[in-house]
Order: sequence, then structure tokens, then C-alpha cells
Amino acid sequence: MKQFLSVADVPDVHTLVAQASAYKASPLKDAMLGAGKRIGLIFLNPSMRTRLSTQLAARNLGMEPIVFDIGKDGWALELEEGAIMNGNTVEHIRDAAPILGSYCDLIGIRTFPSLKDRERDYSEYLLQQLVKYSGVPVVSLESATLHPLQSLADLLTIQEHWKETRRPKVVLTWAPHIKPLPQCVANSFAEWVTAWDADLVITHPEGYGLHPGFTKGASIEHDQQAALKDADFVYVKNWSAYEDYGSMPEVSASWMLSREKLALTNEARVMHCLPVRRNVELSDEVLDGPASIVTQQGGNRVWAAQAVLSNILKAM
Ligand code: CP
Repeated sequence: MKQFLSVADVPDVHTLVAQASAYKASPLKDAMLGAGKRIGLIFLNPSMRTRLSTQLAARNLGMEPIVFDIGKDGWALELEEGAIMNGNTVEHIRDAAPILGSYCDLIGIRTFPSLKDRERDYSEYLLQQLVKYSGVPVVSLESATLHPLQSLADLLTIQEHWKETRRPKVVLTWAPHIKPLPQCVANSFAEWVTAWDADLVITHPEGYGLHPGFTKGASIEHDQQAALKDADFVYVKNWSAYEDYGSMPEVSASWMLSREKLALTNEARVMHCLPVRRNVELSDEVLDGPASIVTQQGGNRVWAAQAVLSNILKAM
């Protein structure tokens, strides 16, 4: 694997999930693989799980992680090619990226979308600039449109709970939120689940359709209760509108997953990438109940990151 920006960089999803599972069973089995190598973890946005799990994964492989909150502690970055930098930006990505690449053997970056300029966000402009100018493999720690490390951990978590031979029914349900959120987790989850052995149903209110390029192979159902029927896994997530980009179209019905709605499922396990707004996105009774596997899901982020980093190290 030369980089990890999306599921398209993964030769075989099943193998990668198996590798993540193997690292969970034996975290230090490749403890020298990354000896002498350094990974820069660059954050333009907040993070707890991704920041810590990727550092743990790197250390398990013998690598040295360096964390840089560029959004807080770095110079204000300019991204435009040919920009006349007489405004607030101080350093061009063309100058910063090769320096970062000279300090590190690989670079992970977290960058959220603007939710204002859809074309630019969906071009993954910053991520692509880093790929172009850093000269080292780049790992997405969540980008403008995708969160592949999360999705890999999600598949590992589903696999750990699924012992039947039939394909599980997985439902991705939109949930309410108080402010507009990116579509990254939902886009990415759809891409990974449809590349795997599961049937995916996506349910959301009118106006919240995702980019169709990410949802190929999934069924779309606007009736949440119909979608939940016989589900084996329910993935709860808010996202803002893709069509009227970044907006929050009004929703009349209650879309929060309650215990009553969960009763429609096949004793489904409940997932959420976290952080979660309790009693807005998901009720306490569901989050703290026996169906919730969100803690295991968050824990599995370490093994997902370790599988990805090990594949990149082996290809270097
Ligand atoms: N799920 C996730 O990416 O969590 P953090 O934002 O805390 O990294």
C-alpha cells in the first residue's frame, strides 16, 4: 500500500480486516517493522481517538510518532497555487509539505471540509496538495470527504460480532445534531461496507442524500422504521446536506434512535464513531444498553491504524 486516502488504496479489504484482527491478538508481533522510521501526525482539527490510536499503532510497530497541531500551533497555511500572499496566510503548502516530508517517513493528516464550497471540499484539495508536495506516503486521519481509518475499525468491529454464514444487514441511519457536520464518516462507511460482505441500507430524511459516488450498492430508504426492520447492525451518524451543501434541512419526525426503534431490528448492535451528542443523536438508554458496541469500536481504531501503517511500511 503506497498511501491510505480511501478504500480505493486497499488491494483487499478482507485481508486488511484480518490483519487488523491479528494485531489485536498480538499487538507487538511486528515491533521492529518501523524501527528508525518516523510518522508525522498533523491536525488541523480536534481529535481524541484518531490522535491517540494512531500514535499507539505507530509505537506498536516501533515507529516514532510526532504530533503537530498545525491548525493551532503552525503558521496559517496558504493553499492556492500562485497566491499573492499579502493577506492572513503566512506559509504556502508548497513550502511546508516538503519540509514535513524531510522530517518524517510518512505523514498522517486530519482536515475537515469547509462545508461551504462543495466542489473544493470534494476535490480533497489540501490532502492532494500534501500528496503532491510532501514526497512521502500520506495517511488520511479524516479528510474533507472520507474517514477510512474509522471505516476499517468499523468493519473489524462488525466482523467480531458476526458469526453467521449469511451476510449481515447493516443500516446506516441519519441522526439529529445541533450543527452541520461533514459527510465523511457516512461516505466512508458506505464505501467500505459495500466493498465487503454485507448488505447496506442507508436511511435519512429527504434532503440528506449522500454523494451517489460513495453509496453505489447500498439501498436508500427514507422510512427509518422500515429500514431498521431485521437489521443486524445499526450505525448512527449525523451529516449535513450534500445537495444544498452544508445546510441542515428541517426534519419533522424524530430520528433519534430509541429503544422502541431498536426493537424493530434483529437484536442489532448499535455503532457510532464518537464523539456523540447524548440524547440528541443517541439516547442514554441505547448508548448505555447491551446493544451498544461503541467502546469496542473506538478501541479497534488502534488495530485498524496498525494494519494500515504496517502495509505502508512493508511497501517502502
Ligand atoms: N471517531 C473519531 O475520529 O474520533 P476523533 O475525532 O476523536 O479522532
